[in-house]
Amino acid sequence: MVREVIGFLGGRGTVVDMTVGAGGHAEALLEAGVGLLVGVDRDPSALALASERLAMFGQRFRPVHARFSEIDANVADRAIDGVLLDLGVSSMQLDQPDRGFSYREDGPLDMRMDREGPSAADLVNGMPQGELADLIFEFGQEPKSRRIASAIVRARSRSPIETTDQLAGIVVGAVGRRPGGPHPARRTFQALRIAVNRELEELAASLPQAVELLTPGGRVVVIAYHSLEDRIAKQTFRADDRVAVLTKRPLQPSEDEVRANPRARSAKLRAAERVAKVQEAA
Ligand SMILES: C[S@@+](CC[C@H](N)C(=O)[O-])C[C@H]1O[C@@H](n2cnc3c(N)ncnc32)[C@H](O)[C@@H]1O
Repeated sequence: MVREVIGFLGGRGTVVDMTVGAGGHAEALLEAGVGLLVGVDRDPSALALASERLAMFGQRFRPVHARFSEIDANVADRAIDGVLLDLGVSSMQLDQPDRGFSYREDGPLDMRMDREGPSAADLVNGMPQGELADLIFEFGQEPKSRRIASAIVRARSRSPIETTDQLAGIVVGAVGRRPGGPHPARRTFQALRIAVNRELEELAASLPQAVELLTPGGRVVVIAYHSLEDRIAKQTFRADDRVAVLTKRPLQPSEDEVRANPRARSAKLRAAERVAKVQEAA
């Protein structure tokens, strides 16, 4: 949703792209006249790619390796006119089998964006069955979560589940596969990724910090791909009297954009603007 992002943030002084990824939005923002773009990512390999792509902008691009929940510790030294969060996993991460995000190709069951902390294999092999089922139900919105968790626990009692192929096979064995339908492991993989990277906690912690850093008139733009993320953005903006909501309803990609990039299908964009400080009554 590059056009919409430019509409909200183009031409501003300092913008923090908290999910710089391969640098697509960042490049468009720099081309649209943003003075300084601080590009944050928790994945060092994404940051290396973005730095290479954006080298032509010299000092106007500043890469920062951090989680976006740590944003105020990393950019508190300057006035911020815009913040962008384009959430979730990047195509680059999905397409690298060794990162373990995808059920389409075999790889280690990892899913850690920054390769720190417990991996998806640690969760799948170590969580009690009930907790695993709840996680798959809540984060994956998977109605067959109990059947899947039970199959996982049966399989791991024979040998540890270490690869994406093993997990995808266990899910298919538990719930079957409809010809022409979506892959049955899709929701389970999504749930594990969200849990491994603590994606909802990260978002909930970072939005109030982002708002605090904004100058009056500064804007925060969130692109969510999951209804739970979108709900956090919607409720945080509504409840925060430091911002005015700019998108009554979330913006969604055009049919053309979805045709060109099917992964954009579920995207919802919300934006809010920092208002001037309200004077406390004496
Ligand atoms: C959808 S991609 C962003 C793509 C980017 N907008 C572009 O145009 O190339 C999301 C990126 O956010 C990063 N990310 C996800 N959660 C993060 C977090 N809590 N802190 C920092 N980066 C995060 C991921 O590593 C990934 O590179």
